[in-house]
Amino acid sequence: MRYTKKSALRTAAAVLALGMISTAAVRAEDAALANKLDPNAKEIDDKVLAASAAVKVEDGKYKDKDGDPTFHIVNDGKKVDWFMYSGYRRYHAECHVCHGPDAMGSTYAPALKDSLKHLNYSEFMGILAGGKQDVNSSDQKVMPAFADNKNVMCYADDLYVYLRSRAAGAWGRARPGEHEDKPDSAKATEKDCLGG
Ligand code: HEC
Repeated sequence: MRYTKKSALRTAAAVLALGMISTAAVRAEDAALANKLDPNAKEIDDKVLAASAAVKVEDGKYKDKDGDPTFHIVNDGKKVDWFMYSGYRRYHAECHVCHGPDAMGSTYAPALKDSLKHLNYSEFMGILAGGKQDVNSSDQKVMPAFADNKNVMCYADDLYVYLRSRAAGAWGRARPGEHEDKPDSAKATEKDCLGG
């Protein structure tokens, strides 16, 4: 009886110690995943920024608590993750003619830096693939369906990540300079997507 009690105590102590170790490990990881934004960033939307916090990273791709892709900015706002950088470039190749430079909007199409404050990942993907038309409006403004356009769909996550950074106000009206290297997984996925 005495022996059992003792070993139970020992087990409890070991569990406690393990718990402390893993909590410390999680904290260390959180610190590495935290965004280090430009201290002068002026348009931060605290709610969107908190919702887009990365909780894990796999081969250069950052994910939020729901597993949706998100951005990662470090060096006081001077260095961004690969997908955000790629998204910036794709946006300015495929979307800015209608949605304006830096997702600021135009007389023709809405400012996506605002749209992404309320559109979630799956809603964004649905509109991107299927398009959108305001049927109640008298004007003929149409968001084209990009489902068959590989130059858009193969980079859908990249676009989402860049636009999300704009919606959070974590990134301003600038071209990202320094960025992480293109991850091997991104190279493989791109090859499959463009070739298949
Ligand atoms: C030919 C012009 C045009 C191009 C190019 C275009 N869009 Fe659009 N987009 C529109 C219009 C117009 C709307 C508004 C449609 C509506 O609400 O009826 C829209 C709406 C959207 C919406 C929904 C916004 C909201 O607030 O509901 C998203 C998301 C979007 N576009 C993403 C993109 C992305 C990403 C690209 C580039 C790959 C892109 N669009 C390229 C014209 C365009």
